[in-house]
Amino acid sequence: MMWRVALPLATAFAVSLLALAPITRAADAVNPEADKKAFQKFFTDKFPKVKFDDFVNGPYSMNEDLHKQWEEKEQFPPYEFSLEAGKEMFSKPFKNGKSYEDCFPNKGIGIRQNYPYFDEKEGKVVTLELALNRCREANGEAPFSYVKDEMAALTAYMAYTSRGKPMDIKIPSDPRALEAYEKGKEYFYTRRGQLNFSCATCHVQSPGERIRAEILAPALGILNAMPIYRSEWSGMGTTSRRFTTCNSQIRGVPLSPQDDEYRNVEYYLSYVSNGLPISGPGARP
Ligand code: HEC
Repeated sequence: MMWRVALPLATAFAVSLLALAPITRAADAVNPEADKKAFQKFFTDKFPKVKFDDFVNGPYSMNEDLHKQWEEKEQFPPYEFSLEAGKEMFSKPFKNGKSYEDCFPNKGIGIRQNYPYFDEKEGKVVTLELALNRCREANGEAPFSYVKDEMAALTAYMAYTSRGKPMDIKIPSDPRALEAYEKGKEYFYTRRGQLNFSCATCHVQSPGERIRAEILAPALGILNAMPIYRSEWSGMGTTSRRFTTCNSQIRGVPLSPQDDEYRNVEYYLSYVSNGLPISGPGARP
C-alpha cells in the first residue's frame, strides 16, 4: 500500500505554514487563545464557502458533491450498530455493581466536549478513551483495546449524547497544562517518518486535496466527529486508531495509543477547535 508523495504538497507546505507561525520558540510566550484565533482564521480564510460548523465533517466539508454524499449517508448511518452497542454497554453494571455512569460528571451524558482535560493531580492530559479505561480498571475490569470496537462503541455513545455542544477545552493556569498544550502543538507540526511529513503537512497545508483515493480532512474540528465509521476499515475507528494509522501512512513508527505525546496532540487539536460542535459518531468514505 505504498503511494507516491505529491511533490507540490511538500514544497507549498513550507511557505504557508510559516505564515501560520506554528511553532513558538521557547523564549516566546505561549498564547493558546491567540493560537486558536489564528488557526481558525487560517481555515475560514482558506475555505470561505464552508460554514463554520461544517468543518467538523472532515472530508465531506471540502466540496459540495461530497457534502451530498454525507447527507445521504446520515439517513442510514453506518455507525448505528456501534452506537446501540455503546448505549447498552454504558449503563450495564460492572461485576461490582457500579457502571461507567459512576465515573463521570453528569453520569457521562453530554460531556464529550470537555475532553481531553488537563488533570492537575496527575499533571497530564486525560482523554476520554483513557478515562473510560481508568474507570474500568478502578472497578476491577480489564481495560479495552484503544483501537478496537468496544472503545469505539463507548465513545460513540458519549459523543452522541453531546452532539451540537461546542468543544470546550480548558487550559487551567498551571504551567504544566501550558506545556502539554505546547508539546502537542510541536508534535503536530514536526516532520517525521520516511516521508518527512508532519500532521500539518496533510491536515493544514492540504485539506481538500487527494491522497490516493482519500480527500484530506481539515485540522479544524478534526476530532469533533470521532469516533468514525470508515468504509475502508469496514468498521469503527477511535481517535487512537486514527492517530496510529496516520503515523503509519507516512511510514513512521506510530506511538502506543494514549502515549503522552498523543494525549498532548489531542489536547492541542481540541483546544484550537473550541467552539465547533461535537458531531460524533461520524461516517467517512
Ligand atoms: C500523509 C498525509 C497524512 C498525515 C501526515 C497525517 N494524516 Fe491524518 N489523515 C490522512 C488521511 C488520508 C485521512 C483520511 C481522510 C481524512 O479524513 O482526512 C486522515 C484522517 C485523519 C483524522 C480523521 C479525520 C476525519 O474527519 O475523518 C484525524 C483525526 C487525523 N487524520 C489526525 C492526524 C494526526 C494527529 C496526524 C499527525 C500525527 C496526522 N493525521 C497525519 C492523512 C494524513
